[in-house]
Amino acid sequence: MAPRNHKKWLESPNIEYISSECYNNEEIHNQEMEQIFSKVWVPMCHISEMYNKFQFRTTQIAGQNIIAWNTGDRVKAYLNNGPQQPSGKVWNDDTFGKELHCEIKHGGMVWVTLDPNPTQSVDQWTAGAFDCIAEAIDTEEMEVFHYHKAIINTNYKLWHDTNSEFYHDFMHYFNRVSGFNDEYFARKNIPFDNGHVNVSSFTVNYEEYDGFEDRGELSFPNLPPNQWYMVDLFPGFNFNLRGSAYRSDSVTPIGPNKVLIEFRGYGLKKDTKEERLTRIKHHNSIWGPFGRNLHEDLIGVAGQGTTMREGTETRRILHGRHENGTIHDEVGMRHYYAAWGNMLGVDPMRPLAA
Ligand SMILES: [Fe+2]
Repeated sequence: MAPRNHKKWLESPNIEYISSECYNNEEIHNQEMEQIFSKVWVPMCHISEMYNKFQFRTTQIAGQNIIAWNTGDRVKAYLNNGPQQPSGKVWNDDTFGKELHCEIKHGGMVWVTLDPNPTQSVDQWTAGAFDCIAEAIDTEEMEVFHYHKAIINTNYKLWHDTNSEFYHDFMHYFNRVSGFNDEYFARKNIPFDNGHVNVSSFTVNYEEYDGFEDRGELSFPNLPPNQWYMVDLFPGFNFNLRGSAYRSDSVTPIGPNKVLIEFRGYGLKKDTKEERLTRIKHHNSIWGPFGRNLHEDLIGVAGQGTTMREGTETRRILHGRHENGTIHDEVGMRHYYAAWGNMLGVDPMRPLAA
């Protein structure tokens, strides 16, 4: 094949693609805040972070300050713009702003939506995407043992993309040597309503990597040893179960080129001290800031973001791999951007077209 010149690169390809304008435009970002993040259910934290009365967590959804607190018998969430700042034990319904819909679902996550009249419950919104791990995360109470956050100069969707396409796994040396077997390539991407996808499991051979050990003994409940499931929840939440440890990622877009990502690691509440330490080690060895995998993803998406800044030449991001829904099939990407385009009322191939 002859080398492609600039003119050739600018031609429309005959396969599915989206425009890089989806990732770098202020107007698109503002629309996403209004039409996506203000409507969806957001998993803002985990119940184990606020077990006791008056414990609370805050976040921002679509630029609004949110607080969720434990009243003693339930969790209530509010817009955090009330007349008083949180102080002491005087909280009541007048302390904050408007009360928001809040549910605890899917392994104890605290879900909040800005939508005053949500048409779907959390279960309806997630549409079955958690079914594959429900028995593992809902049988025993979980507990957060790890939290860190990263502010990355990239678009939030690039983070979700990296959890949704697996050809980038070739970038991860650890994954290559421990995971690339026939079963890995047979994993299926399964789309669910509302833009969600999950990735079916396979068995990871941790012993293939020097210094790592089999993780079967501490597998989550009802999970065969050394499995690895992922749930990619629209528009930017990821749940990742690797046998003995569970991780969630939540994005808070700050602008078209800036995202806050919060990472949590979970064990079981009933863990002994020794079990917990082993889980923490398993978690950190892959997903901690000095692990074998997570920082590589962050470097990857920061680089992708740099190549797509506003002012760079518009380019096309191809989503054309069709491989029977197996691991490198881009069905998850196509599914996500179809839902994204629908909610924004734009065509992801030309999102700025009038
Ligand atoms: Fe990755």
